[in-house]
This record gives sequence, structure tokens and C-alpha cells, in this order.
Amino acid sequence: MSLRDRWTSTLDQLRAQGRYRQFALPRGIDFTSNDYLGYATLPNPSAPDLSRSGAASRLLRGHHEVWEQVESTLATWHGAESVLMMSSGYTANEGLISTLIEPGDWVATDELNHACIVDGLRLARCRRYSFRHNDLNQLKEGLKAEAARNESERERFIITESLFSMDGDRPPLREIAQLAERYGAHLIVDEAHATGCFGAAGSGCVDAAGVRDQVLASVHTGGKALAVPGAYIVASKLLREYLVNRCRHLIFTTALPPAVGAWWLEAIQRVQGDQVSREKLHANSAGCRSELGRHGVHAEGTNYIIPVIVGDDARAVAAAVRLQEQGFDVRAIRPPSVAPGTARLRVSVHADHEPRVLGQLAQAIADALSHA
Ligand SMILES: Cc1ncc(COP(=O)(O)O)c(C=O)c1O
Repeated sequence: MSLRDRWTSTLDQLRAQGRYRQFALPRGIDFTSNDYLGYATLPNPSAPDLSRSGAASRLLRGHHEVWEQVESTLATWHGAESVLMMSSGYTANEGLISTLIEPGDWVATDELNHACIVDGLRLARCRRYSFRHNDLNQLKEGLKAEAARNESERERFIITESLFSMDGDRPPLREIAQLAERYGAHLIVDEAHATGCFGAAGSGCVDAAGVRDQVLASVHTGGKALAVPGAYIVASKLLREYLVNRCRHLIFTTALPPAVGAWWLEAIQRVQGDQVSREKLHANSAGCRSELGRHGVHAEGTNYIIPVIVGDDARAVAAAVRLQEQGFDVRAIRPPSVAPGTARLRVSVHADHEPRVLGQLAQAIADALSHA
């Protein structure tokens, strides 16, 4: 089979399965992006003195004092020792995990953890224990069995997201931190969807749950609620130093542009003081759920990511297309982003949605499901 045949046969297969993907321009009111606080459409802060490219790795000439300022502001926000900027959440998770975890180490990972966590674990070539989503009993069983092996030179880790991207639910972080402590495991938390939206100053679920000291590292992206390019890792000074020396995803890539550092400084200042948007976000999330319920639509989870499970891939796509035709930009999420048989509409509620529109959306979803 030629390379071309291989590609076309895979693409044909995806089409036949209803899993073919293509870019689609935004259509209608945004109920799909991760712009939870409504910052993505604000004007860019201008940074005329800062260059528009890092033009080198941060370990070479790509470093700039703006990043020192961003990192120290972020560390203060989290009440943590230090922060390390990375170019994206994907590379932050993959880089952190593959640098920190070594072959032979054991990692308990929630079965719904994001692709970049999965890829980090693959690169780490460690032993993986995938536990059922948010199932603390199964996590505990695994930890207990692993601790009983008593291999003191092997390290144990637990990795979870703090708000799951496609299911919109949150794990009990305090209980997980307690299990980690009890069984001598290190806890890593991906805060991609929670950063900006939880806690008194918006720094995420780890801080809101009061478990910062029990977390080895947390990963935060700018690309969602903060609406800035890039991501960062919160860690001890020593771990930061180790990553700067060993993390290939940092060493062998161009630094973020200094001008983007100015965007970060503005975003951090804005989000810290923006309790109003956080309250609107959570109120809209509750409002959207209750409207869906009123229209007989079952919605999972309890947060602003609201999955409406459809099941069949093609039916989920048909429902999304119908919603888009009515002016609601809701997208279908299909395998491999979610498990086969659980294709869904993923409704992403934002702080700046009008409550009246949430009612119209719920009605439109009920309609779309009955026609799909
Ligand atoms: C849970 C989770 N972690 C990490 C990432 C990656 O973040 P970024 O988009 O900044 O690469 C995403 C984004 O899709 C995500 O949903």
C-alpha cells in the first residue's frame, strides 16, 4: 500500500465512522470555546517596547526580564515557591511528566486524563495504572498494592485533572491528596480548565482546596480562561531548576515572544480582581443546567463545562449542525476525544452569556436532540 493509499483509506474509514474532522469557522454565539471568563475578545494590551518573537530558546537569547516578572507574579498568586513558563499546556504536561517520571516509576492516572498527560506517560516509559474516572476506591487499591511491593528506589505518582475537559466534573482533591500522603505518592494536577475560575483570587482548584503544599506540581494553561498564549508549571524551586536543566520541551523550543509577557501581566492582574466574572460564570453554569432540566435534557457534571451525552457519533454531529444553523456554536465531541458510544454536545458556558440566551439554547438543544 502506498503512503497516499494509507492516508486515503484512513480518512475514508473516519468518514464512514462519522469521525472525520475538519476546521469550521465560528458560527453564532460561542458555546464551545474555553473562554470561560469572556476575555478572548478584549483588545490586546499593546507592548510597543517588547519584541514580537523570542527568536531563540529561553536558555539562549529567548529569555527576557518580562518572563521573570510574569513568573514571580504567578508564584505570588499561587502562594508557591516558583513558576516556570512553557509554550503550551500540551508541552507543559508532556514535558513535566516525561522529565520527572522515570522508567520503573509507577503512576496512577485517571482514565479520562488529557491526551498530553497520556503522551507524557508514554514518553516516560513508566508503569501505568489507569484508574476508573474519579474512582477513589480503585485508586486506593492500586496505591496499596504498589506500596506493598516496597521498592524504595521507585517513585509513585498520582496524576489528575482538577476539572475534566470533556466531562466537566471535578475530583475530590483533598481526598486524593490524603491518599497520596498515606501511600507515599507525589501528586500532579492539571488545572487547565480551572485556572482563573476557582478560589477567592481565581488561582484554581488546588489553592481553593488548600492542598498546594501536598501537590508536587500543577499545570496551568493561558489558552483557556486567561486568554493568553502559553502555559506554566507551579513547582518548588528545586523542581523548576531540574526542569530548566532537563526538560526537552523547554530547552529545545523557541521561547514565547516577550510581547506576550505583557499580555500575561495584564491577564493576571485582571483575573485576580475579577470575582464578578467568576460569580457570573458559576451562576450561568447553574442557570444553564436548570434550563436544560426544564426542557427535559439531562446534563452531566456540575460545572461550566456541560456535556450532553448523545451516544452515537453521527447523531451528535447532526444535533450540533442543527444548533449552529440556529445561531448557537455548539460542537460535537467524538472518539477518540471521548470513549466510543459517548459522543456528546459539549456546552461551554461563559461569564458573559446573557441568562436569557441560556434559556433559548436549552430549548434549541432539546429540539436538536429530538430531530437528530
Ligand atoms: C485538560 C487539558 N490539559 C492540557 C491541555 C493543553 O493545553 P494547551 O491548549 O495550552 O496546549 C488541554 C487543552 O486542550 C486540556 O484540555
